[in-house]
Amino acid sequence: MNDLRVDELNCETPLSAAAESVTPPGSFFVRNHFPVPPLRAEDHVLEIGGDVRAPLRLTLDDLQARSPAGAVVTLECAGNGRASMDPRAPGTQWRLGAFGTARFSGTALAPLLRSAEPLPGAEVVVFTGADRGEVEPDRTEAFARSLPLADALSPAALLAWEMNGEPLPADHGFPLRSVMPDRYGVDSVKWLVRIEVRAEPFRGFYQAERYRYLGEAGVADGTTVALMRPRSLIGYPTAGETLGEGERITIRGSAWSGYGAIASVEVSTDGGASWRQAGLVEDAPDHGPTLWESDWVVERGAHQVVARATDEEGNTQPLTGVWNAHGYGNNEVHRVDLEVS
Ligand code: MTE
Repeated sequence: MNDLRVDELNCETPLSAAAESVTPPGSFFVRNHFPVPPLRAEDHVLEIGGDVRAPLRLTLDDLQARSPAGAVVTLECAGNGRASMDPRAPGTQWRLGAFGTARFSGTALAPLLRSAEPLPGAEVVVFTGADRGEVEPDRTEAFARSLPLADALSPAALLAWEMNGEPLPADHGFPLRSVMPDRYGVDSVKWLVRIEVRAEPFRGFYQAERYRYLGEAGVADGTTVALMRPRSLIGYPTAGETLGEGERITIRGSAWSGYGAIASVEVSTDGGASWRQAGLVEDAPDHGPTLWESDWVVERGAHQVVARATDEEGNTQPLTGVWNAHGYGNNEVHRVDLEVS
């Protein structure tokens, strides 16, 4: 049985983890809408049903008997960066730490879904967690998200029971979660108990009323959050770091995008007045981050280090945040202020 917590938990990954390819265990951000449900591995059952010819009921043993699959995946909450939206957007005021990278292991979702035989006309797949609570006064729901059937059948989609080689921690979905690489974290449903195939769109609170872009210039109102927008974070130096004049340092960080591989990261040490190309030190593993670095000889005075990523689809981070009503997808550049005296 996992540890019980009476209230929901939200906490950020320290930004120094952006200099690593895998987030140190225990530092991975947590985004729980409701208290962690008390689940036991030994009697956990996953149902696959709805508009299917062959519904399934699978224990963890059944799942673990299937072909193993795993990947290094970066998860990022769609609300990451909300705290800097101007005017303020309501919701959890995430600064920039709602990201994390881990190796998730389990089995591939697509073959399982296919073996349930979705009926002709099936359009969406709803993933439901065992956690539930009041989403607004007098309306209690389980946490659930849907994906178009074609996306749920992506070869990258996983049902995972391990994170970095250990059973999933309670806060990260023990004993079973879905992991949908390249998409905002909301689509990776924790404490997974049911997968339902349907012909009609799903109208759950976190599908129809949240996690949609509203009022954002250039984006149709009601567009659901889906792929992660490009993001780069500076892992070193962090704000307030003590640096000596004349010191040669390597600015380090990581970058990712759900739209494709990272093509370039530019770095500025003067608040964006001038830019240079960072070196990309590692190709992204699976669906993890691209690490980057840039050498700098520190000069006396006030500096602002900025990093800006561009993906292979040509999407670039904006210099200032693009506002929307719920504060989703704010991928404005990361700025770190430093004073060298
Ligand atoms: N799944 C369930 N069942 N309940 C939740 O509250 N939060 C979602 C997603 N899956 C959530 C969930 C959101 S918004 C995010 S960003 C990720 O889980 C966070 O995953 P993590 O807590 O493992 O970092």
